Amino acid sequence: MSIQLRPYRFSDKQDLVRFANNPRIAANVRDAFPSPYTAADADYWLNDCIKGEENKSQINRVIALGDQLIGGIGLIRQKDVYRFNAEIGYWLAEPYWGRGFVSEAVQQLSAKAFATMNIHRIYAGVFSYNKASMRVLEKAGFTLEAIHKQAVCKSDAYWDEYLYVKFRP
Ligand SMILES: CC(C)(COP(=O)(O)OP(=O)(O)OC[C@H]1O[C@@H](n2cnc3c(N)ncnc32)[C@H](O)[C@@H]1OP(=O)(O)O)[C@@H](O)C(=O)NCCC(=O)NCCS
Repeated sequence: MSIQLRPYRFSDKQDLVRFANNPRIAANVRDAFPSPYTAADADYWLNDCIKGEENKSQINRVIALGDQLIGGIGLIRQKDVYRFNAEIGYWLAEPYWGRGFVSEAVQQLSAKAFATMNIHRIYAGVFSYNKASMRVLEKAGFTLEAIHKQAVCKSDAYWDEYLYVKFRP
């Protein structure tokens, strides 16, 4: 079975809380990702995504397996001189790790973004210890462009950030 990307629905709340409430996910993403991840956090996120569906400068999608939410992926267009860039981010429920699902999701969302948004470059910043995410990006056609030394402060320590990019084909 393969994954699909679809818009968020209010009925995703239970799966969102169940799967996003995982410190092994939070350890690899920005601190803005709540941990613990509560029902109120899910309400806030679902409201934001569902209201923001018309927003042309971002795309937020559920990673769904047989229609059930098993993760999330999003892309945000940047501003000013960076306006032809978009940042991509993603997470997957731990029981589904290692099946190629996020590599597929990144490929699908990048293709959609290049087809529907006037952008030139998609990038992602990965913490130095997250080798699985680096591999995901490589499999989705991204290349390592830079290493930002000690740019990230996570769990009270500094980490290098690996910057991966993909240009409009
Ligand atoms: C990172 C994450 C998105 C990967 O999703 P996934 O669906 O399991 O990824 P895929 O199965 O598509 O690919 C994972 C690849 O990494 C490899 N990998 C996994 N752990 C690894 C490790 N410790 N070292 C090196 N490679 C590793 C896998 O073998 C696979 O590569 P392969 O297909 O060549 O064998 C998922 O684990 C996750 O949500 N993690 C927490 C949140 C997160 O890290 N978000 C991204 C922030 S930048």
